Amino acid sequence: MPNILPWRHEQITFERFMDFCLYDPEHGYYTDKERVLGARGDFYTSVHTHPVFAHTLADVIAHHFEILSQPKPFHLVELGAGEGILGRDLLARLQECHPHVFERASYVPIEVSAGELPDRIQGVVFSNEFFDALPVHRVCVRGSEPREIYLQINDQISEVEGNLSDSRIPEYMKEGFEVWREGHQYEVNLRMVEVLEDLDRRMDSGIILTVDYGYDGASYEKEDRAEGTLMCYRQHQVVSDPFAVPGQQDITAHVNFQVMQKTGDKLGWTTDPLITQREFLLDWGLEKRLGEEEELGLFNPDRMDDRLRLKSLLVPGGISDTMKVLLQKVRLD
Ligand SMILES: C[S@@+](CC[C@H](N)C(=O)[O-])C[C@H]1O[C@@H](n2cnc3c(N)ncnc32)[C@H](O)[C@@H]1O
Repeated sequence: MPNILPWRHEQITFERFMDFCLYDPEHGYYTDKERVLGARGDFYTSVHTHPVFAHTLADVIAHHFEILSQPKPFHLVELGAGEGILGRDLLARLQECHPHVFERASYVPIEVSAGELPDRIQGVVFSNEFFDALPVHRVCVRGSEPREIYLQINDQISEVEGNLSDSRIPEYMKEGFEVWREGHQYEVNLRMVEVLEDLDRRMDSGIILTVDYGYDGASYEKEDRAEGTLMCYRQHQVVSDPFAVPGQQDITAHVNFQVMQKTGDKLGWTTDPLITQREFLLDWGLEKRLGEEEELGLFNPDRMDDRLRLKSLLVPGGISDTMKVLLQKVRLD
């Protein structure tokens, strides 16, 4: 494996390393044009599993179209749209079931090097597994104070602790973690805060619907997370070493929904309680939707694949119990 890292005898933050590994134009995991997600790739998300997720989102969108008094244009902004599967399924569903919403909809997929956030957004900003793919700082608590974990890059990569690289880190730590445990490691996702602040500047009114792996303060404390929540994936396997194959594996960090909510509070937004993806699907008519699928022949022998994909989305303890949904309202009275 060639050493593709551009640094020698240098100390860098983990955030810079993660940014390079995922988004370097030449070597980044997500900028690799050959990269495939889904069953043949390294991981799959809810959107690859079954369109029921997109159909649910279509109803949420149609509901808020009325709450927003049918704006024109009606923005549907997808952050980290990836291959655009969610957008495709969602628009098809809107066209079929909510044609008046479809007619007004302006779908804007945003990717690292494609798409631009509109100004004066009125509508719905949504994302699936976007915020957990943003580069994070890593800190370790020593004597009740956070210290940044830097990477010393020589022939090998080693971790060294030092002063914080960004003055916003202590505030993020206070907002995100009720207890700071001595020697424990934490991720700090300042880019998430920046994205939310940017959205605030650009949004006239609407909602931000975030679906992602993550936690709030109470659930973080329930688990022993001495080494934080960093996860790497390669060929559907969890890889524990983020330095193993830079650019060849996905690196993620769970989303701190408490910080997401508190950032919204400071911007004057209101936030619904954090729920699981299963609760979200149920709240928005999963049972009715399954009934419809049944009538459309879900149990026919030729729809075995479809049934299995639906099952893997809904199996107890699976992706719909792990993924969380946060709905934030921006200037929506
Ligand atoms: C885990 S993938 C999820 C893709 C898709 N939403 C899905 O559910 O399959 C995360 C996506 O976010 C994109 N992304 C990361 N940072 C971004 C940024 N700053 N702006 C736009 N997209 C970004 C990545 O390129 C990647 O496609």
